[in-house]
Amino acid sequence: MARSRLRRVGAAAVTAVLLTAAPTAIAAAAPGNGIGDPYFPTYGNTGYSVDHYDLRLRYEPETDRLSGTATLVAEATEDLDAFSLDFLLDVTSVRVNGKPAEFAPRGTHKVVVTPASPVEEGRPLTVVVKYADVPSEVRWTGGDVHGWHRSPDGAVALGQPEVAWWWFPGNDHPRDKATFDVLVNVPEGYTAVSNGVLTRQYTLGGRSVYAWRQDRPAATYLATLAVARYEVNQDTTASGLPVYNAYDPGLGTMMGAARASIERSEEILELQERDFGPYPFNALGGIVTGPETGLGFALETQTRPVYSHAFFARGSNPYVVAHELAHQWWGNHVSLARWQDIWLNEGFASYAEWMLSEHEGEGTAQDLADYVYASYPEDDPFWTVPPGAPGADNVFHSAVYDRGALAVHALRLAVGEETFSDILTTWQSQYTDANATVDDFTELAQKVSGQDLTELFDTWLFTEGRPATPPAPRDGARTA
Ligand code: ARG
Ligand code: ZN
Repeated sequence: MARSRLRRVGAAAVTAVLLTAAPTAIAAAAPGNGIGDPYFPTYGNTGYSVDHYDLRLRYEPETDRLSGTATLVAEATEDLDAFSLDFLLDVTSVRVNGKPAEFAPRGTHKVVVTPASPVEEGRPLTVVVKYADVPSEVRWTGGDVHGWHRSPDGAVALGQPEVAWWWFPGNDHPRDKATFDVLVNVPEGYTAVSNGVLTRQYTLGGRSVYAWRQDRPAATYLATLAVARYEVNQDTTASGLPVYNAYDPGLGTMMGAARASIERSEEILELQERDFGPYPFNALGGIVTGPETGLGFALETQTRPVYSHAFFARGSNPYVVAHELAHQWWGNHVSLARWQDIWLNEGFASYAEWMLSEHEGEGTAQDLADYVYASYPEDDPFWTVPPGAPGADNVFHSAVYDRGALAVHALRLAVGEETFSDILTTWQSQYTDANATVDDFTELAQKVSGQDLTELFDTWLFTEGRPATPPAPRDGARTA
């Protein structure tokens, strides 16, 4: 992981050099430069903002052929002579505001589009991209990750930050959130799962069509497409949310443990609503992949996280469900403005596991804090990564998760139960569907608590080395 990230940053630097040297002067939007993320400078694009993605796709599991039409309903945020999309697949045509447009690949993951005539700032920008390719065969030269995970019976689009460009063109950075309609046509017998609500499903002529709607803004990496011969469990929560859970039949003897975990989503969500505020979305579910998909991680794809079979290999695991569902608030509803702020996602999702443990009587958050602190000796390299600024190579380092949770616990102890709860729920209501940074969080925590928390956040988020003691209650009392 660390290696691939290094290579990626290197490649980004090369791209930037090439761009500066390029003779074509495309002034306004500087297409191909990226949205300006300090860790991943080529990711995302400037010059426009996407409101909605409409994807109409056809997928052939036997050959892994994905084809379709992506319509981006966007707005120009600058005068545009040209603009870029993040995309790796083979494009057959592009139209902008109805008219055919020129397009050309650029860098490691861009398509530069030149409309027939410039689009003025503030004007609607409708981009229709037709494409067809075999995603599993498309390598990204910027790194050694692959966001398209094929199995003998289908495929899953999953990765962070890199995934969207293997299946739809877009503005691939969490700063540009949008709603999604994803319609997928697959051979009869297969199920195509995406995010949000299933609005239509029918079979005709030996093909099945699934239409999914995500009508709350979502970051591009939080959209997924999963195709397999899933076993599906559909239901409705007590509060009326449609539930759609999909299990790969290849789970075999792990099926029971997987179902015993995912089917607790509604219960876990109810607990988390008490801690974080109202659930921000209108659908719920999970997708569990089989061993043949080869996935080794889970990801909080919006309303419907994807879970690797590996989490259920040794029995049920409600903690991974708590982690991915907590992300619906921490990362999905309130999203990162920059990837370096990843602690806002992983620190809180990890702490949600401790909160579940405390609730279940399987160890208090304090027990877990003591345990985690003690399990990394002082000279462990773990302590060299500050979770508040982990570096581009380390955005998913265990320090972001475990030390990140220690930081949340330290905050809880410092401000007390009631204020801690106020901070979490105020954060969610203040930044609804928006983007924020770690600085925004520390500022809000100080405002809500009326305390100077500079030293606490410095110690737990920004200082290399193991803090002298684990977070401890000031009066020696335990939290539970
Ligand atoms: N956000 C995911 C989680 O909480 C991290 C996935 C990282 N793994 C990856 N291959 N990108 O577990
Ligand atoms: Zn996570």
